[in-house]
Amino acid sequence: MNLGLLGFGVVGSGVCRIIDAQDTEELKDIHISKILVKDLSEGNDPRLCVNAEEILNDPDIDVIVECMGGLEPAHAIAAKTLAAGKSFVTSNKKMYATFQQELQQLSTTHGGRIGCEACVGGGIPWLHEVAHTRRIDAISSFRGIMNGTTNYILSGMTDTGAEFDEMLKQAQSLGYAERDPSDDIDGYDVRYKTCISAAHCFDAMAKPEEIPSYGIRNIKAKDIAWARKNQRIIKLIGQGTLKDGALQASVMPVFLHESDAMSRVSSNFNQIELNGATLGRAAFYGQGAGSLPTAHAVVQDIIDLKQNRTHAASHPHACNVDNEAVTGTYYVRTAKLASFTGLIDQKIDEETFLTAAVSMNGLLQAVKNADDPALFLAEVDR
Ligand SMILES: NC(=O)c1ccc[n+]([C@@H]2O[C@H](COP(=O)([O-])OP(=O)(O)OC[C@H]3O[C@@H](n4cnc5c(N)ncnc54)[C@H](OP(=O)(O)O)[C@@H]3O)[C@@H](O)[C@H]2O)c1
Repeated sequence: MNLGLLGFGVVGSGVCRIIDAQDTEELKDIHISKILVKDLSEGNDPRLCVNAEEILNDPDIDVIVECMGGLEPAHAIAAKTLAAGKSFVTSNKKMYATFQQELQQLSTTHGGRIGCEACVGGGIPWLHEVAHTRRIDAISSFRGIMNGTTNYILSGMTDTGAEFDEMLKQAQSLGYAERDPSDDIDGYDVRYKTCISAAHCFDAMAKPEEIPSYGIRNIKAKDIAWARKNQRIIKLIGQGTLKDGALQASVMPVFLHESDAMSRVSSNFNQIELNGATLGRAAFYGQGAGSLPTAHAVVQDIIDLKQNRTHAASHPHACNVDNEAVTGTYYVRTAKLASFTGLIDQKIDEETFLTAAVSMNGLLQAVKNADDPALFLAEVDR
């Protein structure tokens, strides 16, 4: 099997390292033929090239492996690859979550297959386990800590009492957070992963922008202190449930009870759980990012393609997010308390309150109306 590798950064170079090492029988007849870079001066590997067409039009290349990131040209290349009936493996959750309906359709029509294991949970074989579970079970729900950067920040704030900015700087200095951390700290990265997980767990392909998403940019040490006083630990959680045929999904900080094993997932680790009809609750834990763990997931997809493994339970279709029936209690800190009249059940201080059990959609509408850029919101119970 010959591969065209697009992108030679953190993930792409890891993929190259694992495949070139040829350490197992499964890897012996998998080869990288060409590697797309922006500039040939990026290395002296004779496989480097700068023209994507050279790779896409090479009849000897069976599978395109995309580790460039961003929406374009990754999306155009994915569409072209699948339209040509070739298979496509990606670690690019933003692109894949955004275009999964179109790409799945191209895969169905032309027979090329898609591998996206690395898009969710990095090195954790989460999507593989979802498919494995679905050979027997319907999955009713999933939830997870799917972003190592924010988990590192929240764990540090919980352990040391530090403020958000201090922990973000630390995460940046250790290479856990990017210079522009918005995708992580505003919940967008988890939103893409929640979107892809819903498609795999429930066959429900929603648009990422339909999933209400709130991050941790505005969290303060005092929110963490209130949580600790109440035997809670705050984690950024992506979750999805299939209830009466409706896809419920959200991304927001959650006050997990300290008896909940997920509350003990610390540092930059990830954990994702599912609920299966006969399996019950099963949890998958590990490194959600990093060069070799993520590359491991990419290469597992490539081996699955080589071995022609398919997941028969999966027939994804377009679906809207419907949180109408979701109710919960929420913690809100805002300078605009007056906008929440009728929703305040218990005042914690002059700017912070708890709701009673309320409709999530109703609360989020009030949050929108309040238009407070410094507002912090978290789910306490559901
Ligand atoms: N890093 C992780 O731990 C991790 C984990 C899971 C998923 N992912 C996903 O995997 C993807 C890659 O992440 P990464 O961390 O490897 O990023 P990265 O280190 O920035 O690598 C991407 C590489 O692709 C190159 N590139 C971008 N557009 C290109 C183009 N049009 N032609 C040729 N080369 C191009 C970039 O060049 P320039 O730098 O010059 O732009 C860079 O060298 C992203 O979608 C990311 O979300 C990453």
